[in-house]
Amino acid sequence: MISRTMQDALNAQINLEQASAQLYLAMSAHCEGRSFRGFAHWLRVQASEETAHALKLVDFLLDRGGKLELQAIMAPPTEFGGVIQVFEQTLEHEKKITARISALFELARSEKDHASEIALQWYVTEQVEEESNVGQIVDQMHAVGDQGGAIWYLDSRMGKRGKG
Ligand code: FEO
Repeated sequence: MISRTMQDALNAQINLEQASAQLYLAMSAHCEGRSFRGFAHWLRVQASEETAHALKLVDFLLDRGGKLELQAIMAPPTEFGGVIQVFEQTLEHEKKITARISALFELARSEKDHASEIALQWYVTEQVEEESNVGQIVDQMHAVGDQGGAIWYLDSRMGKRGKG
């Protein structure tokens, strides 16, 4: 049986993953509105990954006999600026998630909750990949700038995410 403290912390993380899905869906729509369909696609895939992250935690919580307590999901902004700013904000957001996962991992340790600690290892690893991927995209965007053909080339490459 999971402790009340750990249950609350996992419920909070589930909410944050859902809020991330909302954020990336809003960003995707923002890019789509500017005809950057590749970036929009990449962010739409990212949104569904965030939902999967939330559901993975839901399953873990339920497997441990915990109670799922869903909360209202914070509304994302409606304006994000240019596409480079969108991905800079994505990177900042992922850094925040990494900090939250680290805190959750520390909590599992201090609670001597080994099962949670092991389950959270997946998220620790995932955050390394998330930050690396988004960091690379931001670097590439800075290199090409948001004017001219190169940004559209990048857009078309990002549109291939998950398509083999
Ligand atoms: Fe679920 Fe992008 O962190």
